[in-house]
Amino acid sequence: MIHPGTLLKASFQASKEFFRSPAQGSGSRLAQASGAPSVIVPIRSIGPSHIERIATHLLALSPQDRYLRFGYSANDEQIQRYVTGLNFERDEIFGIYNRKLELIAMAHLAFSTDPELKNCAEFGVSVLAQARGRGYGARLFDRAAMHARNEGVAMMFIHALSENTAMLNIAHKAGATVERDGSETEAYLKLQPANLDSRMTEMLDEQIAQTDYRLKVQARQFWRFLATLQEIRRGVQDSRDRMRL
Ligand SMILES: CC(C)(COP(=O)(O)OP(=O)(O)OC[C@H]1O[C@@H](n2cnc3c(N)ncnc32)[C@H](O)[C@@H]1OP(=O)(O)O)[C@@H](O)C(=O)NCCC(=O)NCCS
Repeated sequence: MIHPGTLLKASFQASKEFFRSPAQGSGSRLAQASGAPSVIVPIRSIGPSHIERIATHLLALSPQDRYLRFGYSANDEQIQRYVTGLNFERDEIFGIYNRKLELIAMAHLAFSTDPELKNCAEFGVSVLAQARGRGYGARLFDRAAMHARNEGVAMMFIHALSENTAMLNIAHKAGATVERDGSETEAYLKLQPANLDSRMTEMLDEQIAQTDYRLKVQARQFWRFLATLQEIRRGVQDSRDRMRL
């Protein structure tokens, strides 16, 4: 369960972060450079209105990453087909956005369609190359496992290539059973039944992530407005200078 103190720290940090100009770069890099862990990674559930961002995210993956993510070297058309085929009503898509509102990490929790396996779900994830090694993959895994648990899922499956050390590390560290079979590895995590704590934690996480996203939207609009204002000022100044000549 998230401690109220952690929440306060997160919201204080967030308010400082949001209204920094994008030109100033990412604050999290500073935190990472000093070795300080970031307090909270806002992970939100995303719906069909984000479909273009999902496509942009997946299309930005290198051929090798596409191979690791989908188990085959998906081309652009196959990725588009996967995105169009996403079932937002049945499944859950989670995302992490940066301040420019780029989807830098996403996970797909696919619920089983087989009536006999209805308490199973499959987890798939991708993090853009420039955002790796910050724990986003692991956080998305935890978030998906929490959601699956609250939806009554008893087993979350991960299908990965045996060479995918990062993914297998995430699954192993979360307590999943990992079974290697040649070049492919199956992992599954047994989930506890939901309780009040797991439900409250998920609700709170989602609330924080939605607020974070809204603030990022506002901050972006604010910086665009300032940029326009600056352009107008520069125009006025230029014409004054010309009149003086
Ligand atoms: C797998 C992937 C999601 C990991 O994302 P990430 O945000 O970089 O992962 P994390 O930062 O949470 O790191 C998770 C663990 O893997 C380790 N790790 C990360 N990259 C690694 C690498 N290239 N080699 C070995 N271990 C690695 C980390 O050290 C960490 O372990 P630790 O907790 O013991 O330090 C990302 O590499 C990716 O998108 N790959 C392409 C798509 C893919 O493989 N998807 C998974 C199949 S569904």
